[in-house]
Amino acid sequence: MAQVHVIALGGSLLRPEEEESREMWFEQLKQMLIHLEGLGCRVGIVVGGGAPAREGIDIARNHVSDERRLDEIGIAATRINATIIQQVLSQIGIDVAPEIPHSTEKGAELLQEHAVVCMGGTLPGHTTDAVAVGLAAEAGASGCIIATNVSYVYDSDPRENPDAIHFESLTMSELGDICGVGEPLAAGASAVVDPVAVQRAMDDSLGLAIVDGRDIERLENAILGQRFKGTLVTP
Ligand code: UTP
Repeated sequence: MAQVHVIALGGSLLRPEEEESREMWFEQLKQMLIHLEGLGCRVGIVVGGGAPAREGIDIARNHVSDERRLDEIGIAATRINATIIQQVLSQIGIDVAPEIPHSTEKGAELLQEHAVVCMGGTLPGHTTDAVAVGLAAEAGASGCIIATNVSYVYDSDPRENPDAIHFESLTMSELGDICGVGEPLAAGASAVVDPVAVQRAMDDSLGLAIVDGRDIERLENAILGQRFKGTLVTP
């Protein structure tokens, strides 16, 4: 049976500060997917909403009191970003599912037919980290890669605390102490790993690898189970 890998690709990765970095990143991402397809892997890519999700939620926040309605705006943004990745990969001939699934069940089904499946959010109440962990469980992957824009999980936010301590390895329960477990974030709020995703990974005994997705070499090493710079979280 083909090896299945699932990546939660943070939406911020599509919009780096300099456009030049974006072009290089897309080229390297394409090369990585060509390589993984060549190895016979199946890859689920769950794309985050990034800036458009946050912007859409901010615009509506003063007019919408129900958090779940705001979540729907975030979900729409994740699907735009998923479509960007889907079409870029399709253009270079990768066997990518032509549909953006709206559930992890459907995503897992499509992964049996295609080398790559791109999707965004599913339902209100969690982020795409939780979707990716759910897809990993459904599709029979042993873990899930969280590709974000920090190098490691830290004991506090490294953007606010220059003395934040990083971790190269953690148990899932230690990660839960840092990020929280099970409690949904507010619409558009961010954490290094969504607490709902931590809960799902605990329930399904899945491992996690948190890696800086701006560096495709680190990402590929994490996907292939090789030594990588980042945080490895054991079930
Ligand atoms: P993201 O998955 O993009 O959140 O979802 P994030 O952690 O901010 O990730 P980055 O910044 O892209 O890396 C954006 C918002 O969309 C809604 C939530 O409101 C979330 O905060 N959402 C997303 C859902 O309600 N359900 C989903 O399945 C996915």
